[in-house]
Amino acid sequence: MPSETLTVTDNRTGRSYEVPIEDGTVRAMDFRQIKSTEGDFGLMVYDPAFTNTASCRSAITYIDGDRGVLEYRGYPIEELAERSTILETEYLLIYGELPTAAELREWTHDITYHTYIHENVKKFMEGFQYDAHPMGMLVGTVAALSTFYPDARDVDDPRSREIQTHRLIAKMPTIAAFTYRHSRGMPYVYPDNDLSYAGNFLSMLWKMSEPRYKPNPVLERAMEVLFILHADHEQNCSTNAMRSVASSRPDPFSATAAAAAALYGPLHGGANEQVLRMLTHIGSTSSVHAFIDKVKQGEGRLMGFGHRVYKNYDPRAKIIKQTADAVFEVTGSNPLLDIALELEQIALKDEYFISRKLYPNVDFYSGIIYQAMGFPTEFFPVLFAIPRTAGWLAQWVEMLEDQEQKIARPRQVYLGRDIREYVPLESR
Ligand code: CMC
Repeated sequence: MPSETLTVTDNRTGRSYEVPIEDGTVRAMDFRQIKSTEGDFGLMVYDPAFTNTASCRSAITYIDGDRGVLEYRGYPIEELAERSTILETEYLLIYGELPTAAELREWTHDITYHTYIHENVKKFMEGFQYDAHPMGMLVGTVAALSTFYPDARDVDDPRSREIQTHRLIAKMPTIAAFTYRHSRGMPYVYPDNDLSYAGNFLSMLWKMSEPRYKPNPVLERAMEVLFILHADHEQNCSTNAMRSVASSRPDPFSATAAAAAALYGPLHGGANEQVLRMLTHIGSTSSVHAFIDKVKQGEGRLMGFGHRVYKNYDPRAKIIKQTADAVFEVTGSNPLLDIALELEQIALKDEYFISRKLYPNVDFYSGIIYQAMGFPTEFFPVLFAIPRTAGWLAQWVEMLEDQEQKIARPRQVYLGRDIREYVPLESR
């Protein structure tokens, strides 16, 4: 037995068991040996919503929620947001190292080579209703890609995985931009592969009759930074969906569609939309005190505050706040910003929020920037899904290469009826 162990006494039988502790965890399967009788199934652990269960070993993203730390492959998010591009960051997430100049050239070529989508995918998208939610279109179209690339089913081939990774990272902005143009009834704009990843995305969104779209460098960089901040966040709801679905070995387009569907929900990728609704509802800085009082009395929540993991200022929120200043110099300020700043200032000094360790999270300021840049609120989760695709794919490959992983299949505690006799229809 290693010295790092846990001794458990089963008071039903009086027997003691010693289970190893490794990396701060005990293995759930080590508890199966604990039985009250000979034929007993053995003890299971019960953890609805996985609040205290590690589902994998991972070397991709590190979060220290108490200190407000976020790192991709060991690099602090602040440094990546300041010095890196989204393509470098995505390479880092997927391959584990920042690319050399030659690797970056090749990676950029591989991604831009795949930005176009098959004309039939475009036709498929044309079939959506004029008022279809962009996230619904994105989820459906990404799933449909699996029918265009049957080679993607070979998930055990590392080269095939790499090609699907290029395709997904490259096509996500194209599909996202097409959902926007579709909902506006505007013609789709094809990718401009001479622009940067973010610049091309802005071109596909906003280009009108000009021969060539020139992105504003401040907004282009802001888009890159927002993409970098959202690229991965370890085992959250959508990443868990990616790993869980991919564990039965479908192609990555199907698994990514499932992850995007998980992101769609208001408790995950949709929270920034709720922040905007809240700020609009508050209406002016003079109403902030009254709103905070209501929150403290349990009437609603301060949206964009608090986090399951961060018990400190979310490091992404700090960077977004700085990015907002640069964006507003170009777009003009968003009147909701003053309300947000006042809310933050009051909440951070208030005992209710201090004692519960409630700080601004990533969603508190991102919606305000997106709105100032001209994005409609229903488009916000799509903006989240584009960069998170790289995180999902990095987690997918890590899962496939992990010898300990199998098809994800949780247990349950059955509380239903005991076996009973079938009653024929005429006797019910
Ligand atoms: N406003 C007011 N009170 C709050 C808030 C809030 N935003 N968040 C938590 N609390 C209170 C809560 O009422 C509870 O108080 P008490 O102990 O008196 O009952 C205490 O703080 C602990 O809250 P909890 O609900 O047990 O915490 P949780 O870890 O289950 O919830 C959360 C985390 C993010 C769901 C929650 O903080 C929340 O609802 N925040 C607002 C929504 C939001 O901004 N979500 C975006 C999260 S970041 C994006 C992402 O990663 O997907």
